Amino acid sequence: MHHLKLSALFLLQFLCFFSTLISISCTESEVQALLAWKSSLKDPGCLTQKWSYNISNDPCRWEGIQCSEAGSITNLCIRACMTDGTLDKFNFSSFPNLTRLDIAYQNFHGEIPKEIGTLSNLLVLSLIFNNLSGEIPATISNLSKLTHLDLSGNQLTGSIPKGIVNLSNLYYLMLGQNNLTGEIPTSLENLSNLELLEFSYNYLTGIIPRSIEYLTRLTFLGLSTNELNGRIPLEIGNITALQQVVFSYNNFIGVVPPFLTNDLLISRGPLTMSDYQCSAESYR
Ligand SMILES: *[C@@H]1O[C@H](CO)[C@@H](O)[C@H](O)[C@H]1NC(C)=O
Ligand SMILES: *[C@@H]1O[C@H](CO)[C@@H](O)[C@H](O)[C@H]1NC(C)=O
Ligand SMILES: *[C@@H]1O[C@H](CO)[C@@H](O)[C@H](O)[C@H]1NC(C)=O
Ligand SMILES: *[C@@H]1O[C@H](CO)[C@@H](O)[C@H](O)[C@H]1NC(C)=O
Ligand SMILES: *[C@@H]1O[C@H](CO)[C@@H](O)[C@H](O)[C@H]1NC(C)=O
Ligand SMILES: *[C@@H]1O[C@H](CO)[C@@H](O)[C@H](O)[C@H]1NC(C)=O
Ligand SMILES: *[C@@H]1O[C@H](CO)[C@@H](O)[C@H](O)[C@H]1NC(C)=O
Ligand SMILES: *[C@@H]1O[C@H](CO)[C@@H](O)[C@H](O)[C@H]1NC(C)=O
Ligand SMILES: *[C@@H]1O[C@H](CO)[C@@H](O)[C@H](O)[C@H]1NC(C)=O
Repeated sequence: MHHLKLSALFLLQFLCFFSTLISISCTESEVQALLAWKSSLKDPGCLTQKWSYNISNDPCRWEGIQCSEAGSITNLCIRACMTDGTLDKFNFSSFPNLTRLDIAYQNFHGEIPKEIGTLSNLLVLSLIFNNLSGEIPATISNLSKLTHLDLSGNQLTGSIPKGIVNLSNLYYLMLGQNNLTGEIPTSLENLSNLELLEFSYNYLTGIIPRSIEYLTRLTFLGLSTNELNGRIPLEIGNITALQQVVFSYNNFIGVVPPFLTNDLLISRGPLTMSDYQCSAESYR
């Protein structure tokens, strides 16, 4: 009896050890890349506790990390962790199966590396409220599966990459509160899945392209506080899904179009606690 108990315990230990081994060996290159990046950070913030690699600790169970059944990292989300550093040492080609990359409300600075374009399975990219500078890399248009792109609240300069109009799966496109210049891309017709478009608080110039009328699913359109001019296209009134339009502080000419009623001039509400957490609600 005693003997049986012991061997059952041994078997259990063996299984646990083995399953840990499997998941670690599957993600070995990813875990090494993750830890190399962590050690490049000026201050890893709360990651010091959250991501520490040892044999009894499955990286797929680290906070903010999710893996596929095969043990490859699919989600990486760290929010409000007081992390200070750059993305320079983030080895993008080590994470071919990443579908969600969310590094929000931190102190990341430096540029968004052009290698971000290698994350060909990415669905969600959120780098909101950091201190990232430089231009939005043109390679972002390589991320053809992207449904959610949020780079709001950084110091990004330059113009919106033209290729963004090819990201036809996007339903959420937020580039507000940056230092973007240049014009809104003219051919928006392929962005027909877009539900939220927020470009407010930048230095965008030129007109609102008429092709905006093809964004038939749009519910929120924010273009406030830019240097846009010309007439507001009346075609926007054809977008029946539209619930909120924010156009204030621009250089528009002509009459206020009839669809811009006071009811529609509502800005986004304040941030809530859930904005600081990595939950599915963050993306809807
Ligand atoms: C293994 O990691 C866990 C969780 O991060 C930590 O509590 C533990 O002290 C580590 N063990 C060793 C031997 O480093
Ligand atoms: C990515 O996922 C595929 C399919 O599950 C797998 O074959 C491959 O090894 C994974 N890549 C890495 C780096 O784990
Ligand atoms: C990045 O990761 C890839 C794939 O795991 C590897 O081949 C390459 O050597 C890594 N690059 C660096 C600079 O570590
Ligand atoms: C674009 O994606 C393809 C795979 O879809 C990849 O082979 C290529 O390296 C990527 N290009 C850039 C510039 O990231
Ligand atoms: C943001 O970056 C700029 C330089 O690009 C620096 O001067 C500034 O102090 C940074 N702000 C914060 C809050 O770290
Ligand atoms: C962005 O614009 C703000 C306000 O005009 C300015 O203080 C800041 O230096 C600009 N940042 C960059 C990186 O151009
Ligand atoms: C969009 O993709 C098509 C087909 O790949 C390409 O011909 C076109 O130049 C792209 N548009 C932009 C603005 O990059
Ligand atoms: C829209 O998508 C089609 C099909 O992928 C492509 O041929 C076309 O060039 C795209 N239009 C623009 C303006 O990029
Ligand atoms: C769209 O709006 C314009 C201007 O208000 C109008 O002339 C046109 O008939 C509308 N098109 C559709 C398809 O409703």
